[in-house]
Parts: sequence; C-alpha cells; structure tokens
Amino acid sequence: MPLVPMKQVLDEARKGRYGVGAYNVNNMEQIQALMQGAAETRTPIILQASRGALKYSNMVYLKHLILAAVEENPDLPIICHLDHGPDLETCKQAIALGFTSVMIDASLDYSVTKKDGSHPPREFEDNVRLTTQVCNYAHKRGVSVEGELGTLGGIEGKTKASEVLLTDPEQVEEFVRRTGVDALAIAIGTSHGAYKFKRSPKLALKLISRIRRRVPETALVMHGSSSVPQFLVKQINRYGGKLKKAMGVPMSQIKKAIKLGIQKVNIDTDGRLAFTAAIRKHLAQNPGVFDQRAYLGAGRTAIYKVMKKKMIDMGTAGHAGDYEPMTLAQAKKKWYR
Ligand code: G3H
Ligand code: 13P
Ligand code: ZN
Repeated sequence: MPLVPMKQVLDEARKGRYGVGAYNVNNMEQIQALMQGAAETRTPIILQASRGALKYSNMVYLKHLILAAVEENPDLPIICHLDHGPDLETCKQAIALGFTSVMIDASLDYSVTKKDGSHPPREFEDNVRLTTQVCNYAHKRGVSVEGELGTLGGIEGKTKASEVLLTDPEQVEEFVRRTGVDALAIAIGTSHGAYKFKRSPKLALKLISRIRRRVPETALVMHGSSSVPQFLVKQINRYGGKLKKAMGVPMSQIKKAIKLGIQKVNIDTDGRLAFTAAIRKHLAQNPGVFDQRAYLGAGRTAIYKVMKKKMIDMGTAGHAGDYEPMTLAQAKKKWYR
C-alpha cells in the first residue's frame, strides 16, 4: 500500500467517531516504535515531520525512513504529513519529497520573530490568501491540506492570555469555504511542549461542538495533545534531569474532544519524554554501556509502550482494514477536480 491521502483517513475517522494520532518523528527509533504499536493494534497512522525534523534529518533520510515503514507494513494506511508548514515553499518541498499531506500554518507569521522567539498572529485575510495558495498547489497533486485558525496557548490563570486567540467559530465556515482545506487545526486552549498547565487543564471543549456544527464535513485537529505522563517526568528527574512541574492534557479530555468532533490528535512531547526517560534510566543503570543500540533500543521500547496505549485509548486501534486506501491520483480525481 502506498502512502495514503490524509483526507480519506480523517473522513473515515469522522464517520467512525474516533481520533487518529499524528505523531512527530525525527529518527528511525521513533518511527519503528510507532509502527510496532500501529501494526500490533491495526491502526491507521499519521507520521508527521516539522520543519525542524526535515532540517535535522536532511529531509531525504526521513523520507526514506517513512518509506521503510510503508514497505514493512503494506497493509496499514500510513500518511506522511508536514507539521506546521510555515510557507508555500516548504509545503512544495514536502510534496516534492512525496508527502501525502501538508499543514500550512498561516495563523502565525513565521517571517517575523519576536524577542521571546514567538511569531505574531496573521490577519484573517492573509491567512486565507496563503492557505488558499497551498490548497491550490497541493490539491492539484491529490495532497491533503490542514490549515489553522486561532493560535495555540493555555487559557489557564497567568499564561500569556493576551497572545492566545481561541478559534472564533464565526470565522470557521468562511475560512473553510474560501480556502478549501481538508482539515482545520483549532485553538481550544492547548499549547505545545511539556509546560502546558500548572494545574488541571482548562480547555474550551465546548468550542469544538460549535465549530463542528458549522463545518460538519471538515476534519478538526487538536494540536498540543500530549498528556505529559507524570511517571515519565519523575523518571527523567530521578535520573539526572531537571524538568519543572508540568501537566498536559489527560486522555479523558482527549476522549471528550474526540467525541465532540476532533479527528486528528497531534502528539510530539510525550514521545520525547518517553525516549529521554528510558535513555536516562538505561545509562544511569548501566554506566559501562557505550553501544548506542542498547540505550536507543530502550528509548524505542518506551515510545512504543506509551504510543500503543494511546492508539487503543483514542479508538483508532482496529480500524486499519475498514476501507480500501486511495492513491493521490484517486484522491485528486474524487475531490479536487
Ligand atoms: O508543533 C511542534 C512540534 O512539537 C514540533 O516541534 O519544531 O521542535 O520539531 P519541532
Ligand atoms: P505536544 O507538544 O503537546 O506533543 O503537541 C505536538 C503538536 O501539536 C505538533 O504539531
Ligand atoms: Zn502543533
């Protein structure tokens, strides 16, 4: 089975009311761990690469690692997706590499970097213009597109609320109609990284149903969905790490979000935590070890365990064989002519 278009997999998820994990990958161990989990649970899977991941892996290495996952798992629907594409050029590069889906994150202006490293929000009209350009380019090639409305960030107490723009449901219908996006990332109060919340998370879950009603056929995406498992934070700190107290989004909230209308669930941080915790422990307990396969292997096993559980919890497990996956040419003919 070749890599499949994201739209098809998310359409199936919407009909079946389950969430599909979109897991950030940078190296072989992550990909192998995720594919072991997906194969054992018969799970359709989105492997996504950020601009940073493409740079780290010099693009072509990551491409071939993902193609290796496809070759090893011919009976699983696998999507290769660009995460947070900052501009048309990067989306074009990903499509040229063979990605079957791209995200254009035009909610932020990545060409401007503020002193604290963040990027300012883009105006609605500018977001529509850039997202439409990417849709036009990608859809001609059968490639799915994810856009974003609103910006990520916590809505808890003292977080930088002034910089957080939850998605405005009033804008959603117009955005989807004018751009033609297949999937829409919405801001409901989550943020990237390990330090999302100081206490129990406060998410604007009701927004999901309000948005879902306005765009009933568009896939909705939740970024910043790591749960930051406390046993991993403790393990990292026990073996020499210095992570601050932090909380993520509990699986119970993710399940609610899926029930309310989310189909794509973005996860990166939990994989990083699992990998780091296992490697720290392995090296601390085996000070004589210097074969990287020993500690990278331990990291790989840790990612596999954490992610396999998510595949089961999000309801994706068992859905790999529900449909006949499409090629990009078929997707183009069916949806984008
Ligand atoms: O959305 C952000 C992801 O966690 C990717 O992070 O840019 O460090 O690869 P990265
Ligand atoms: P986390 O940092 O919560 O894993 O979110 C990842 C993400 O949204 C990637 O786009
Ligand atoms: Zn994200």
